[in-house]
Order: sequence, then C-alpha cells, then structure tokens
Amino acid sequence: MNAPTSAIESVLVENRVFPPSEAIQKAARVSGMAGYEALCAEAEKDYEGYWARLARENVVWSKPFTQVLDESNAPFYRWFADGELNASANCLDKHMGTATEHKTAIIFEADDGQVTKVSYRELLERVAQFANGLKAQGVKKGDRVLIYMPMTIEGVVAMQACARIGATHSVVFGGFSAKAVQERIVDVGASAVITANFQMRGGKELPLKAIVDDALQMGGCEGVKHVFVYERTASAYSKVAGRDMSFAELLAGQSTECLPVAVEAEHPLFILYTSGSTGKPKGVQHSTGGYMLWAKQTVEWTFDMQPSDVFWCTADIGWITGHTYVAYGPLAAGATQIVFEGVPTFPHAGRFWEMIERHGCTVFYTAPTAIRSLIKASETDEKVHPKNWNLSSLRILGSVGEPINPEAWMWYYRNVGAERCPIVDTFWQTENGGHMITPLPGATPLVPGSCTLPLPGIMAAIVDETGNDMPNGAGGMLVVKRPWPSMIRNIWGDPERFKKSYFPEELGGKTYLAGDGAVRSEDRGYFRITGRIDDVLNVSGHRMGTMEIESALVSKTDLVAEAAVVGRPDDLTGEAICAFVVLKRPLPSDPEEAKALANELRNWVAKEIGPIAKPKDIRFGENLPKTRSGKIMRRLLRSIAKGEAITQDTSTLENPAILEQLGKTH
Ligand code: PRX
Repeated sequence: MNAPTSAIESVLVENRVFPPSEAIQKAARVSGMAGYEALCAEAEKDYEGYWARLARENVVWSKPFTQVLDESNAPFYRWFADGELNASANCLDKHMGTATEHKTAIIFEADDGQVTKVSYRELLERVAQFANGLKAQGVKKGDRVLIYMPMTIEGVVAMQACARIGATHSVVFGGFSAKAVQERIVDVGASAVITANFQMRGGKELPLKAIVDDALQMGGCEGVKHVFVYERTASAYSKVAGRDMSFAELLAGQSTECLPVAVEAEHPLFILYTSGSTGKPKGVQHSTGGYMLWAKQTVEWTFDMQPSDVFWCTADIGWITGHTYVAYGPLAAGATQIVFEGVPTFPHAGRFWEMIERHGCTVFYTAPTAIRSLIKASETDEKVHPKNWNLSSLRILGSVGEPINPEAWMWYYRNVGAERCPIVDTFWQTENGGHMITPLPGATPLVPGSCTLPLPGIMAAIVDETGNDMPNGAGGMLVVKRPWPSMIRNIWGDPERFKKSYFPEELGGKTYLAGDGAVRSEDRGYFRITGRIDDVLNVSGHRMGTMEIESALVSKTDLVAEAAVVGRPDDLTGEAICAFVVLKRPLPSDPEEAKALANELRNWVAKEIGPIAKPKDIRFGENLPKTRSGKIMRRLLRSIAKGEAITQDTSTLENPAILEQLGKTH
C-alpha cells in the first residue's frame, strides 16, 4: 500500500490501537468493554426501563415522572412528560448540604490572567440574585431571553438564572454580527437581552453592547423591553433610558435566595441557533428533563468525572459544547471546572498548557482546530511547546466539533497526554444535546481518528438512501434509529422544517438523520465520520451553511450578481470557505483591484454574519458553471476550489473560459 498522502487516506489505513491502561480501567465509572456492553444490553432489552433508570438516578425531580417515552406524535417525541424539575436546582441547589456545597465550582481565568474562584454556594447565591433581578423586571416562565455575553462567570450565571425562573435562553456567540443578533432576536421573539459592554479577547477590548444597539435598531425587535449590561470593563457605552440597565442596577437590593420554578420535563430550556443546508439558521429547541439527564450522565461517563477532577472544556457558551459541557453538565455532576475568557494564543501559544499546569487540570476537552494551530505554533517556537509545562495532572483528553486527523491525534496523545491519557473523540451535534458516539476512557480501545462506538442507548447506524443498513466497511448516512432523551424537540417556530430536516419520509419519518456520512471499520465496527452530506461546512469546528454565506454575498446588490460557496479541505481549519462570485461589473483585470474587491466582500460577509464566515478564497468569473437546466455544477466548483484537475464533463459549459477565470484565488 502507498504511504498515506492526506489525512483522509491516513485514516483509511489507521491500524494503531490504544487500549485503556489497567489503572484507568479499574477505577473508571464504566469499567472495561464488559461494563460498556452490559449497559448496551440493558438498553437493548428494555429501552424505556433503561432511560427511566438513568432519569431517576441523574435528575432531581420536583415531581416524579410516570411516563417515559411518548411516541404518539412522532417525530415530536416527549420524554418523562408528566415529570417536573428545574435545571438550575439540578446544577446548584442539590449540592447544598453536601460535600460539594463549599467546593470550587468555577475557576475563572480572565483574558489578562486574573483568576477568580466561586464555590457552589456562592454560585447559587449569584444565580438566585440574578434570577430575582430578572423577575423584578417582569421576566417570567416561557419568555425568551437572548444572551450575548463573553466567556465569564456572569455568562454562566445569566443562563442559570433564566433556567431558574423558567425563561428560555438563546445564547448567541459573541463573534456574530448585529444582523445575526437581530435575526435571532426576531425569530426567537426575545423580550430581553443580556449582554456586556465589552468583551476582552487577546488583549483587545471588543464591543458587545454597541452591536446589540445596532441589532435593535434594525427593526422587528420591538418586543425587547430590557437590555441588561454586564460592565466587563470600565469603558463607557451608550445607554437607552428605560430600556438599558447595568448588572449593578439589576441586582441592587435583590435577595440571594430565590425558589427555583419547577417546569415540565418538556419545557424548552434553551433554543440555540445553528446552520442548516438552507439559508436561515435553525433554532434548535431543547427540553429540560431529557437534556439535563444526558448532560450529567455524559460528563460522568465520557470524562469519567470523579470528585477530585478539575475539568476544562474550552468551548464558548455560544455553542452547544459550551451549553452542555460548561453551563450545565459539569455543574450537575458537581465538578470543579475552569472557565477561560481569552484565546489560546494570547499572550503566547502555550496559554492552554500554562493554564493546565496552573490550575491542575485533570480532564481537558478542546477542538482539533485548536490542537492543529498549537502544533503549528510549537513547530516554529519551541518555547510554546507543551513540554515546557508540567502537565502531569492530566488524566483524560477530549476532542470535539470536527474530525481529528490521526496526525493531530498522535501529537495530542504524545505531547499533551504523555501517552498516558486516553483521548475521547466525541461525535455529536447541536441537535443531539450531548455526546453520541465516543470512546469511554476506562473501556474503549482507542483508534486515532475514530469516534469508536455509540454510547449505551444511542441506536446509531449507517444506512443507504432508503434506510437499509450498510455492512461494515461500506460508507453511508449516519442515523439514529430510536429517539433519545436529549434530542432536539423542534425547530423553533418551524415544525415542518424540523420533520423535513431530521426525519425524512424516505427513511420512514421516525429515524433521525444526522446529516453526516460515516463508515464502520471492518474489524471492530468502529464509527468514523467522513463529513457532512449536505451543504453545511465545518470551519474550525464552526458550523456554517453554504447558502447562508451565498445569501450574504448576493445581498451586496451593488457589486454581486451571483455567488456560489463550497468548502475545500484546509490543513488548519479542517475546511475553508471558497466563494465563486459573478460581479455586476467587468472582471477586474488588475490583481490589486481584484484583491481589494475580494476584501470588500469578506468584510461585507463579516458584517452580515460574523468574521467566522469570511471566505478564505474568493474567485471571480464572468459566470458560474451550470448544467443545461441551469443548476450550478457544485462538484465542479469543489474540484476547482481544491485545485484538482477537472475530470467532470464540461462539454455543456457555454463559456469554458470561466474555468480558467475561476481558477484564480484572490
Ligand atoms: O459534522 C459533524 C461535526 O460537527 C457537526 C456538528 O456541529 P455542531 O452542531 O456545531 O456541534 C459541534 C459540537 C458538538 C457534525 O454534524 N462533528 C462534531 N464532532 C465531531 C464531528 N465530526 C467528526 N468527529 C467528531 N468528533
């Protein structure tokens, strides 16, 4: 066999296996493959009984449930529907009077390195006070609150406070634009916004409140009655009288006690927007009961969380990983966790390793893009290589958000984990609520680049277009054959799209379609994700729809006549955005002019969606390659983007000269 030439090929020939060490296996919550298989067998034998047991063990119910799964209105599944609970009480109140009460809940490290710690008791008091503040302003159960906050203790407090009073939060990542914020405010029908005056990233002070102001001026946001502002920095910001209020004003005189509001298990805890294959982002609606069950259980299983662990998930609260593995799961499990405000490369690219040493981090969970960029940094600067820090506290490593190439996996394993720490490559999605396919550190033999096996109770499979199971070794579409408690409940306000996107008729209308391709290995049946099968891109672990970026480009009506966006592989970001653009003016003949136009378009996209959506490559042509029926030949564009030789039939092209034009990147 030829030596592997690309990440994909090297995955195909991957045959290294790393079984768990005796020591880890012995002490683990799920011990050995026998432990894993016993749980799978339990779920297989009595599916509802299995989930009911986990729901009773992992969740504190204020009113116990008597029904488990209600499939009567599939695919609008309901779990534990007559039970009641409060998510915040499940993260905080339940620890009071236990050994966890005075344990550190959050070790916060600010961008500038300043460290603040809060105990579970202190966190409860802050959440309760914040909840009282919200209540005093009229925010109540069922209201939607948009949160646009930096990674801070206050961000977690805001989410928990909403949960405490039964308000549904919708967190928007602080890198999204005013337009994106406005669209989400309108779609979710928010009555309040929680934000900060500024955020600190990499030593820079970046505005948040000013972006909210812009968003609110764009129209359709009349429902927003309040904007609550965390004064993260001393810098001034503009305040609208009667609408805007600082945290200090909101909290003044409020008690630090607040009874949690019991909500039905199906009450929407949050709505989180994510990209789909059509233009508009989808408001993924999650439940309270099923979600909390899996948030806690997966923290305990996947990370084998023990009372002495110091957990660190580097994801922002604006993404699902930051919801489940920062704001809810670790707290429900009573863990001590690190919350980091800044970026991995400031003030130097050894910041992660320095922080692991400083705080004695034991379980570290990050994204392949971060690992790849830190590998690159340490190759050019020895001083930021992990070997310069004492990482002996680490016992488990995790990866999330995109496929991890075996080269990055091996580097992480050797240089960060000292060949001692298992790596859990966790596959899941915004819609899943928590981990789906992942190794268990004390059970699963690891294969670099493979997310291995589904968690017990997750009935994942690989099928063809008509739903037939594919044999091991043959690729197909990843599906989940049975509903599970933490799954998406609806697309906010768009049940038809929910059904169409996730439960297509071709598969019988009840099977969850993940939107990813996957293949199982012939020897172990391990899953390997081969990438999205729809028009969704994954850039640095951030999910983006090609159509979303196309709509942003064509909305620059003075310049752009037509646009098509595809992904191409990128060594650092996994995938890179490549935009093909037809201008409303002649093709720029001067390369400098082309570059200036390309930059103008990049900045436009940043303004429309956010900097993460800026196309890396922009290519101009007099038109786009189309079939006779007028459909854009996307496969051809993907080949051009990759710089591949064109093997497709191009005889139908009216103007073959465009292939050369589109070959040039600006
Ligand atoms: O393509 C898969 C990829 O990320 C997508 C989900 O993105 P999002 O909803 O933003 O959630 C990311 C964090 C949970 C999936 O459809 N993906 C996620 N994790 C992995 C992955 N691809 C391969 N391996 C993973 N471990």
